[in-house]
Amino acid sequence: MNPATNLILIGPMGAGKSSIGKRLAERFGLRFVDVDQAIVERTGATIPVLFEHVGEAGFRQRERELLAEILQDEGQLVSTGGGAVIDPDNRRLIRERGFVVWLQVSVDSQLKRVGRDRNRPLLQTENREQVLRELSAAREPLYREVADLSLETDDLSPTEATCALVGRLAVQWQRGERAA
Ligand code: S3P
Repeated sequence: MNPATNLILIGPMGAGKSSIGKRLAERFGLRFVDVDQAIVERTGATIPVLFEHVGEAGFRQRERELLAEILQDEGQLVSTGGGAVIDPDNRRLIRERGFVVWLQVSVDSQLKRVGRDRNRPLLQTENREQVLRELSAAREPLYREVADLSLETDDLSPTEATCALVGRLAVQWQRGERAA
């Protein structure tokens, strides 16, 4: 049913990319691949440890390499990290190599979902809300640029969001549409 090579999830931290992605992958018989998880497996270091030792720039370099490697393959549901869209080459690849779903979430919901998470280095700060608002302002145009479809996940459980996406993807794919 899916005319695209891969199904690629983009969106900010806490939007539900992993939880929804696993369910969607199962629903469509796609292999679930989490780019952050691939980085951890490849480097043998957690994301916070990587940020500590090679900085955000070093992390982004590994993210770029792994994303390019993963997107050579097909038949996958690829869950990307929230900052993957910062890099123009990543954005081009994401558009070229799959049908792109942007999972949206408000800053209030992000704070509830990942505000206390220790595994996200960018949130290990006093003012998480401000950081999340700044990231959102900077990245929203980038998500918009690559998205074929978007869904607000604030009021949806992962199962509800998955059901909504299955319906909307079926409609879009039947019409052969690409843009959101
Ligand atoms: C980041 C998001 C994280 C992870 C890293 C940086 C970001 O992924 O890649 O901590 O820049 O927004 P999730 O979006 O899966 O939390």
